Amino acid sequence: MSDRYIDFANSSIGHRLVGALGLPSPVRLERWQAGRLRPVEGALLIGGGPLAENIGVFANRLTDAIYSYGTEPSLATAWIPGHGPKLKAVVFDASHLVQTDQLKQLREFFQPLMKNLDHSAHVVILGRAPESLSDPIASSVQRALEGFSRSLAKELRSGGTLQLIYVGAGAEDQLEGPLRFFLSPKSAFVSGQVIRLQACDTPVQDWTRPLSGRKALVTGAARGIGASIAETLARDGAEVILLDVPPAKADLEALAARLGGQSITLDICAEDAAAQLIEHLPDGIDIVVHNAGITRDKTLANMTPEFWDAVLAVNLNAPQVLTKALLDAGTLRDNGRVILLASISGIAGNRGQTNYAASKAGLMGLAQAWAPLLLERGISINAVAPGFIETQMTAHIPFGLREAGRRMSSLGQGGLPQDVAEAVAWLAQPGTGAFTGQALRVCGQSVLGA
Ligand SMILES: NC(=O)c1ccc[n+]([C@@H]2O[C@H](COP(=O)([O-])OP(=O)(O)OC[C@H]3O[C@@H](n4cnc5c(N)ncnc54)[C@H](O)[C@@H]3O)[C@@H](O)[C@H]2O)c1
Repeated sequence: MSDRYIDFANSSIGHRLVGALGLPSPVRLERWQAGRLRPVEGALLIGGGPLAENIGVFANRLTDAIYSYGTEPSLATAWIPGHGPKLKAVVFDASHLVQTDQLKQLREFFQPLMKNLDHSAHVVILGRAPESLSDPIASSVQRALEGFSRSLAKELRSGGTLQLIYVGAGAEDQLEGPLRFFLSPKSAFVSGQVIRLQACDTPVQDWTRPLSGRKALVTGAARGIGASIAETLARDGAEVILLDVPPAKADLEALAARLGGQSITLDICAEDAAAQLIEHLPDGIDIVVHNAGITRDKTLANMTPEFWDAVLAVNLNAPQVLTKALLDAGTLRDNGRVILLASISGIAGNRGQTNYAASKAGLMGLAQAWAPLLLERGISINAVAPGFIETQMTAHIPFGLREAGRRMSSLGQGGLPQDVAEAVAWLAQPGTGAFTGQALRVCGQSVLGA
């Protein structure tokens, strides 16, 4: 369903009216277009501590317009406030800040930039995970980066986004993949997130087709977010296998044919679902995306056992059972990627969704608990938690709630299935083993559960 308010707010009359009445004025977000090669089209500014030098090694693969500010010796052309170009992307390494008075470097670095950011600019701050530091003062200073980042993300205008990446020991050379995602329009609807990277030794070979040679299964792929995930994984070079319920067969087969993939019609809650799936995948699989999900909303007072059971069965039990079966049978290969579609309802809770929110929180817990056990095999497992995304699922929400859902985020709008798909495609890459056991929110920095 299209968001007519964005069209109105960006028309010439609407823009003036929205401004005069103090209404939210969401901008049209810049998104990744087919055929684009460079993650950053425009000026990239790099500054701050020692990790800036690690970025200097690959920065020319991100863009050809690299500037430095506040970094000595200068890595690139010096950016001069008021004279330099508008900035499309900014990276600031704050990992060296260990005392409270050093935090003022954040203000000194960012203040001159704030009025020089381009439309849909992407900002990344780097730090060290507070829990990894033995000095309580240094740990507290690094934790301060969270409050700063989440607040500054809310102050960005014109579709800007900002994330904080805590870089673990040994993960310093893993920054290209995350920066290709977080500095590009692929992360258009991700903002205010705090991400932890750890060491990982499976690099991406070809950045234009990072999933080349990998086989990916996507459940619930006939429509909505699942269809978009299948398209995006195929775009990035994966061989895709699309799964959905038998009534969705026609749509599923049409999409699989278009993407040159295979289709499996199967109810993931069927008694023999795991056995059937393993039989369909004799050569194994590298990427599993548990996207199939349903809602059956009622307040708990009115919740029927059928509504409760159906949601827990599809959303939580099936991903648990199928993942375990694929691992036990050796169908999921070493260095595999498991991605679970959760929801911000599972973080914030949502009236009328005790069943759904329980299932989605359970998925985030599954990723967190399973990740350390799979490290030895190089397998990562993560959750993606979308906020309000424009699909058939959200088109059924009553008008008032739908409007509230769209506007209650820093970006003031709902996301598109493509936004979730881009996050999944990034997590599916070989090099993204540095990121595991986490939940990545794709919610435009929704105020829910923030
Ligand atoms: N749309 C949103 O705003 C939003 C927000 C947060 C999370 N999510 C999650 O993202 C995922 C996709 O959402 P969507 O909006 O595209 O939903 P959708 O209803 O448009 O699509 C879900 C797909 O899953 C399939 N499916 C349902 N039960 C199945 C089963 N038992 N076996 C196999 N396939 C089954 C459906 O046939 C459908 O094709 C879901 O897990 C959902 O909970 C969506």
